[in-house]
Amino acid sequence: MLLVLLHLSLKIIHMYKTLLTSLANGIFTVTINRPDKLNALNKDVMKDLDNVVDEIESNTGIKGVILTGAGQKAFVAGADISEFIGLSGNEGKALAKKGQDIFFKIENSSKPIIAAVNGFALGGGCELAMACHFRIASENAKFGQPEVNLGLIPGYGGTQRLAQLIGKGPAIELLLTGNMIDAPTALQYGLVNHVVPQNELINKAKGILEVILTKAPLAITYCITAANAAYNDNGYEKEIEGFGECFDSADMKEGTSAFLEKRKPVFTGS
Ligand code: COA
Repeated sequence: MLLVLLHLSLKIIHMYKTLLTSLANGIFTVTINRPDKLNALNKDVMKDLDNVVDEIESNTGIKGVILTGAGQKAFVAGADISEFIGLSGNEGKALAKKGQDIFFKIENSSKPIIAAVNGFALGGGCELAMACHFRIASENAKFGQPEVNLGLIPGYGGTQRLAQLIGKGPAIELLLTGNMIDAPTALQYGLVNHVVPQNELINKAKGILEVILTKAPLAITYCITAANAAYNDNGYEKEIEGFGECFDSADMKEGTSAFLEKRKPVFTGS
């Protein structure tokens, strides 16, 4: 639940159930805070992300944003698989649509949002990082779209943004194999712009934002809007359809159950 507190200085301060936030010198740091579940995106996190983008837009004190994950192990290890159990195809489509809408809000933010990827960025975590304007990774970061291991496909924009960022060939290989890539490979693919030791990650992101914040804010916004407009097509619709169809398959039920039961899935093609 979003609590809104009136601070003594009469600044509105938002508090989130699953996010930690701090604002200093115009730079707003948002930390997804479910480290015991590797910061997996459950409904609460998605709702908080939705709300925090509104705060980013409306708070004139926020000039740029760093998005990261709590702990040293994960940025975000994906959508919360435990919430997939029992969903129908149509519910799967609605989930993908909602997730895509929130990630579009991030991508279309008028203020720069940098993902500081501090560990695993898998599934929805990779998709979230890709929805940010660019990415910086720590040396231990790992990226991937492992949904096929669950009998599923990415649903929060991954089939589209991965191809946009690294090219169709490498993207399809990652989507079909479910393989993870390490930070140097992500750098080579252009998925991330920089790789730094973990203890330098936030400072690296801050340093780049400090440069950006010396520029004209309107020009920054128009750069973001124009760059985003380079990628308009109906692929996102196709992704929603495919994601939803998977929820009606036996293999997706088997894949998600196997993960939660900590065993290998047995897929049958149905
Ligand atoms: N959804 C829900 N829970 C998740 C999760 C996810 N996407 N990713 C990790 N977790 C949970 C685990 O179930 C575990 O919870 P538990 O301690 O209550 O059992 C906890 O986070 C720690 O994860 P664990 O698997 O024990 O860590 P690990 O170091 O052995 O493995 C990963 C790390 C990232 C390789 C592994 O967690 C993983 O494969 N996660 C799923 C990745 C994925 O498929 N993402 C796409 C989802 S669409």
